[in-house]
Amino acid sequence: MAKQTTAFTCTACGAAHKKWAGRCEACGAWNTIIEEAPLSQGPGRGLGAAKGRAVPLSGLSTSEPPPPRSLSGMAELDRVLGGGLVPGSALLVGGDPGIGKSTLMLQAAAAFSRRDLQAIYFSGEEASAQIRMRALRLGLADAPMRLGAETNLRNILTTLDAERPDVAVIDSIQTLWSDTVEAAPGSVAQVRAAAHELVTFAKSRGVAVILVGHVTKDGQLAGPRVVEHMVDTVLYFEGERGHQFRILRSVKNRFGPSGEIGVFEMTGAGLAEVANPSALFLSERGQPIAGSAVFAGIEGTRPVLTEIQALVAPSTLASPRRTVVGLDSGRVSTILAVLEARCGIPFAGLDVFLNVAGGMKVAEPAADLAIAGALLSAREDNPLPPEAVLFGEISLSGALRPVSQTENRLKEAQKLGFSQAILPDASKAEGTSGMALRRITDLTGFVGEVFGAG
Ligand code: TYD
Ligand code: MG
Repeated sequence: MAKQTTAFTCTACGAAHKKWAGRCEACGAWNTIIEEAPLSQGPGRGLGAAKGRAVPLSGLSTSEPPPPRSLSGMAELDRVLGGGLVPGSALLVGGDPGIGKSTLMLQAAAAFSRRDLQAIYFSGEEASAQIRMRALRLGLADAPMRLGAETNLRNILTTLDAERPDVAVIDSIQTLWSDTVEAAPGSVAQVRAAAHELVTFAKSRGVAVILVGHVTKDGQLAGPRVVEHMVDTVLYFEGERGHQFRILRSVKNRFGPSGEIGVFEMTGAGLAEVANPSALFLSERGQPIAGSAVFAGIEGTRPVLTEIQALVAPSTLASPRRTVVGLDSGRVSTILAVLEARCGIPFAGLDVFLNVAGGMKVAEPAADLAIAGALLSAREDNPLPPEAVLFGEISLSGALRPVSQTENRLKEAQKLGFSQAILPDASKAEGTSGMALRRITDLTGFVGEVFGAG
């Protein structure tokens, strides 16, 4: 006789517990643990008693055409989606409150509707009159999309089933509530149940469903991390409040490459697409100054140039400051350690501030050399050559490793008027003429080459 296993789950955080308790140890919430029905264990488990149906299997070759794509006509959005929206797919668009998710989704729904797709936008946060006013301001009032103000999942599904639109936006997943789940709207249990029903609906009826979700400060979707696994595509809308740029980034995409970015600018009339982000990110560069390095990066499939800025100043603190914005601070610590250990250039007793201009985030290891360049330039108070871009990964030994897509990086740099690249020696770059290539084998060589003897 198989042992009966009963599971207890916290409805606030989703943690599983072996036994019931008044307080969830994982999230600290009171009275949130419920007993979940055990997995059904029918009579006779195991092969001998197998009564299942044989699943028809098939090979990999197919004569079916690839799924059709619906284009919004917003080139930045279509690219991030991997070439347009796939009918019947489920998407999650996450981002901090106030970053512009509702604005972007309203613009996207209007754009789809102008291309003869049926689009419905459900808002649980704003009244229809409010959304209409925004649409008027954004110049979308004539778009043939439709609005609904609703938070009840059952009503939304009924409406969608009757209308069968091509695209439905749900803004936001945290405001939905389903009467079958006894938990507050926005709780994990509600969000999971609502997302599950909407995703199932999207698949079975061929309606593309876009879920909007708020993210907490530390970058996690408030509660519904689980939703990320259910949907086909996860997009993050990010940016700094004080800056006008917004970046839509695909972190997961079953229908295209992930890591792709689309760049927008928040204007008085909504989000405007930025076709040439490198020019925008470098637009604030003036006279050559110490501590500035231009990094030739790759975001998804496109090259993007960004400016990395460093400031190094004597510290009055026992443990000096290391303030890093837009870069991985662990990576920066490693580079500081390599500079000290391999090149004998200490940063002890110095405060270090590093950031990426314009509120961009850079996660590529290829940025190592540009970070080191900005740090050294700031420390030596000696500007890097203003016509140069930098890229390359630094290993713990201080050696420079080549990175992918060297030629794409060089072409973008050349397009923006740079004439020199400082790059790892082993980089393969045949097809680029007109760029002076300064090939570097290790960090010590870089210090000598760019800053004299160091
Ligand atoms: P919103 O789309 O409501 O953000 P979210 O849905 O992510 O919470 O956008 C909020 C901000 O965008 C708000 O602070 C004002 C700004 N905004 C503009 O600057 N221009 C505009 O045309 C619109 C509609 C909003
Ligand atoms: Mg909103």
